[in-house]
Amino acid sequence: MSQKTSEELRQEVSKRRTFAIISHPDAGKTTLTEKLLLYGGAIHIAGSVKARKAARHATSDWMEIEKQRGISVTSSVMQFQYEGKQVNILDTPGHQDFSEDTYRTLTAADSAVMLIDVAKGVEAQTIKLFQVCSKRGIPIFTFINKLDREGQNPFELLEEIERVLGIRSVPMNWPIGMGRELCGVYDRMKNQVELFQGKDHTSIEVRKTEDYNDPIIREMAGDFLADQLAQDLELLDVAGDSFDYEKVRTGQLTPVFFGSAVNNFGVQTFLENFLELAPQPTERKSTEGMVEPEEEKFSGYIFKIQANMNPAHRDRIAFLRICSGKFQRGMSVRHVRVGKEIKLSQPQQFLAQDRDIVEIAYPGDIIGLFDPGIFRIGDSLSESRDIVFDELPTFSPEIFSKVSIKNALKQKQYLKGLDQLTEEGMVQVFRSVGAFEDTYLGVVGQLQFEVFEYRMKNEYGVDIQLFRTQFQFARWIVGDKVDPSKFRINSILVKDKNNVDVALFENEYAMRTAMDRMPDLQFLEVAP
Ligand code: G4P
Repeated sequence: MSQKTSEELRQEVSKRRTFAIISHPDAGKTTLTEKLLLYGGAIHIAGSVKARKAARHATSDWMEIEKQRGISVTSSVMQFQYEGKQVNILDTPGHQDFSEDTYRTLTAADSAVMLIDVAKGVEAQTIKLFQVCSKRGIPIFTFINKLDREGQNPFELLEEIERVLGIRSVPMNWPIGMGRELCGVYDRMKNQVELFQGKDHTSIEVRKTEDYNDPIIREMAGDFLADQLAQDLELLDVAGDSFDYEKVRTGQLTPVFFGSAVNNFGVQTFLENFLELAPQPTERKSTEGMVEPEEEKFSGYIFKIQANMNPAHRDRIAFLRICSGKFQRGMSVRHVRVGKEIKLSQPQQFLAQDRDIVEIAYPGDIIGLFDPGIFRIGDSLSESRDIVFDELPTFSPEIFSKVSIKNALKQKQYLKGLDQLTEEGMVQVFRSVGAFEDTYLGVVGQLQFEVFEYRMKNEYGVDIQLFRTQFQFARWIVGDKVDPSKFRINSILVKDKNNVDVALFENEYAMRTAMDRMPDLQFLEVAP
C-alpha cells in the first residue's frame, strides 16, 4: 500500500464514530436521534425521523406488524458529518419485545449512548441492552433526558445507575433547577453556564465562569438555584468520581450529561463532548488474531440480515460492519465460510429508509449488501486472509413454541421458509428426536414469533400454528453418551440445526437436577 493510501485510511478511521443509542421505549431516542441528525445537516426539517417512522409504517409490507404495535421492528443506520467527524448511528429497535437483532446490532457499535428518562430512571430494556454493551467493554455515555419535566433528584439517579448497572458515573454537566424551574446546566469541564433563554427555550446563553461560585451564576439564575448548584457541585467534587479517560474508554465509568432532547437543550454540548471522547474504530478479534482497522486489506462481518426493507425490492439486505481496509464498490472479496470470491457490486448505505449506492467506505461504516441468499449472520468477508471475526455472541433463547403447518401440502415452502428465516437469525430451530419429530422455535422476544408467523404467510404463503410451551432454558450438551430418556420430566432432548444435542428445560430446578445427575456432560448456554 502506498504511503498516501495508508495515510488516507488512517485519517478516515480517526474520523469515524460508530455508536448505538440504548434506551427503554419513550425515553426520547427518536427525538434525540433527530436532533443529532439536524446538527449534522443530514436532515433539514425537525420531525423527519418521526415522519419516516410513520411513513415506514405506511409503506412497508410485512412491517404491518409495526403499525399494529406502534413499534419499530427494523433497525437501520444513519450517517452524518459534524465538525470533521463521520458519525454512524446504529438504530436499535425500541420495542419492549427483544429480538436478537437488537443485541447483534450492538456488536457493530464502538460505543453506546444510554438514554434515560429523568423521571423513570433505569428501566428494564435499558438494563438488558446495557449488559450486552458492558460485556464487550465498550465506552458508554449517558444522556439524562426530559429535564424540562419534574424528575428524580440527580444524585439519586446517579446512585441508581451505579446500583442497578454497576457502573460508576461522572457528571459532565449539572442541572440548574428542574422541571418548570429548569433554567440551564453548568458545564463542569468547561466551567461555563448554559442557560435557556426566552419562555419557549428557543435559544441558549453561554457564559464562562471562574467556577461554580461565580457571581455570574447568581445574576443569571437567582440566589436559590445558584446556592443549590454550588452545594451540589461541592458535594460532587468531594464525593463523586473524577473524570478518568482510561476508565471511560474501558467502560468502567460513564460520563453523564443532562438535557432535554425535545427542547434541543444540552444536545449540542453532548454531541461535541461525545465526539471528542468516543473512540474511533478499534481492533477486532478474529481467528487470525487482532485485526487493526488501519490494515490495508478490507474485512468485515455481517451482523444482521433483513428481508424486504422496501416492498418494491423483494430482496434481502445483509448489514456488514467494516473492520479494516477501504471498501470500494465492485471489489472482489472472499466469502470465508463458503470459500468463494464474490463481487460487492450493489452496496447501500442507509439513512432511515433511503438507499444510496456506496462507492467507498471505511472501517466503522456499515454497508448493506444485496443478498440473493448467500449470507448468514456472522459471515466474514475478507480481501486477503481467511479470517473469521469472533464478534457475534449467540443468545440463549428464553421462549419456545412448537410449530406446525396448517396445510400439509405446503411442506416444501414451509421447510424453505424455516430454513431461510433460521439462517437470517429470525428464530432458532430445534427438532425433537424419537418417533414423532416435533419442531420447536426458540427466541429471546415474543415479537420474533409474530414476525416469523407473518413472514411465513406473506413471503412463503404458509399458514403456521404456534403452540407456546413451558420451556424457558436451552442448554447445548457436550459429552459422549446422551440418553434421551433422562430428559423426560420438565425437560426434553432436541437437536439444533447443526444436529447438536440441546436440552430444553421448563424451570431452573429441572435444569440443575439434570446437571447434577449427569456430571459427565457439559451444559452450555449457547451453541458450542
Ligand atoms: P422513543 O423513540 O425513545 O420511543 O421516544 P420518542 O423520541 O418518540 O419520545 C417519546 C415521547 O417523549 C415523545 O412524546 C417526545 O416528544 C417526548 N420527549 C422526548 N424528549 C423529551 C424532552 O426532552 N422533554 C419532554 N417533556 N418530552 C420529551 P409523545 O407525546 O409520545 O410524542 P409527540 O407527540 O411529542 O411527538
